[in-house]
Amino acid sequence: MEVDSGFWDKARECAEHIYGCDELLLISHIDADGLTAAGVASQALDRAGVEHTTWFSKQLDEDDLQEIETEGFDTVLFTDFGSGLLTDVVDRDFTPVVADHHQPDGDCRLHLNPLLFDIDGSSELSGAGTAYYLAKALGEIDGVDNRDLASIAVVGAVGDMQDSDGGLSGVNRSVVKDGVDAGVLEAKQDLQLFGRQTRPLPKLFQYSTDVRIPGVSNNQGGARELLEDAGVELKAEDNGDWRRWSDLGDGEKQTVINAAFERCMQNGVPADKIDRLVGETYTLLDEEPGTLLRDASEFSTLLNATARYDEADVGFRVCKGERGETFMEAKELLRTHRRNLREGVQYVADNGVTELENLQYFDAGDEIRDTIVGIIAGMSYNRSAVSRSKPILAFAETDEPGEVKVSSRGTGRLLGKGLDLSVVMSECSSAVGGEGGGHDIAAGAQIPEENVDEFLDLADELVGEQLS
Ligand code: C5P
Ligand code: C5P
Ligand code: ZN
Repeated sequence: MEVDSGFWDKARECAEHIYGCDELLLISHIDADGLTAAGVASQALDRAGVEHTTWFSKQLDEDDLQEIETEGFDTVLFTDFGSGLLTDVVDRDFTPVVADHHQPDGDCRLHLNPLLFDIDGSSELSGAGTAYYLAKALGEIDGVDNRDLASIAVVGAVGDMQDSDGGLSGVNRSVVKDGVDAGVLEAKQDLQLFGRQTRPLPKLFQYSTDVRIPGVSNNQGGARELLEDAGVELKAEDNGDWRRWSDLGDGEKQTVINAAFERCMQNGVPADKIDRLVGETYTLLDEEPGTLLRDASEFSTLLNATARYDEADVGFRVCKGERGETFMEAKELLRTHRRNLREGVQYVADNGVTELENLQYFDAGDEIRDTIVGIIAGMSYNRSAVSRSKPILAFAETDEPGEVKVSSRGTGRLLGKGLDLSVVMSECSSAVGGEGGGHDIAAGAQIPEENVDEFLDLADELVGEQLS
């Protein structure tokens, strides 16, 4: 797919402005897509010789904007956010340049957003992908080939789960193609389980809870048996270490995939679910095999493990190529993140959800961090406790007294029936004195604690209208 020419022209206009800046602030969102967006933009700025400072923020707000003005930056490049707050961003003491894929609340001259060009910002291009086009346009100014940055942009798209329909689509495909052409990325149909590079083989299958394989998922012995019955050696011949999926040859992989398919079919797993076992996967060819950074989906989880715990800078530096101590630090953070995800999903399983007419929700209070409650809401969809027939909302306390965070997630099928969570979150939150936004399939808001019930009533009603 070719990139829309209007979108590309806008990328060049933004790049030309940035190229001449000397007091530039780059500010980005604290999740995998936001970190990779910043990583891509910052490397392109370095290569173009544009000096810049980089900041991260959980949710762009008035405080951030005032701080930016106090620091006296000339131009501010917003990546992976900014569009939802455009009316507050314009008419400031700085020139805004926005490279984002969230639902805009206005427009400005230097505003690069796929949604303004009929490109779907929740499935066809991520924040990092948008930043990638800006980077490409920056490179073009003085003949620098920035296509190698496409691999990091793909990590961002995968981090935003834009590959959830079996692979990346839309303009994302052009980003993938650039990465492949530049020799930094491989895109290949493969097993869609998390941990292809780093998980010991039996664990890969034991933990495969997105698609449940009967007798294998959550079953250590069953996972080993599936592999052994398929004739796969579990340990490496030379050193006796557990083998990883990425160590297997194509023939071995196919045998195991067939066995997993067969097991699912024999146990009545619906065909559309079984299909989700295989999809396009993305390998970063410049990274060491067997490491978290080699696989786009493992890489993106590592980044979330830094950014969502006030350590965005660690993930950002990894995106920019730092290894050694920085990478060690990121891996340490990942251990905590994994434990929190496990405990969070268990919390939902133990406490269940409350059903309203058109939606379901849970309130995690202070049991789950507000920065990961959305991830857990999404993960809970794959567990039997949560029905896929309604959107899910999740509440958590924030560090601002009296304010709660709400995250929402939907499914592709619900979108087809008219669901748009970004509208639900922005309209219902502003009706109760909060603010929010996001994407049709995943959105969030912050609202006053005392208005949660009112917010729920409004959201239930609006979702009902959208789905009718
Ligand atoms: O702010 P940002 O756009 O980066 O966040 C997108 C969020 O939407 C991510 O948490 C991502 O996991 C979620 N999402 C989702 N399912 C999709 C697309 C996005 O849960 N199909
Ligand atoms: O935080 P969570 O993962 O639920 O965010 C889902 C999406 O909603 C993200 O794209 C995020 O940027 C957006 N969001 C927002 N305003 C908020 C909270 C989240 O636009 N107050
Ligand atoms: Zn994003």
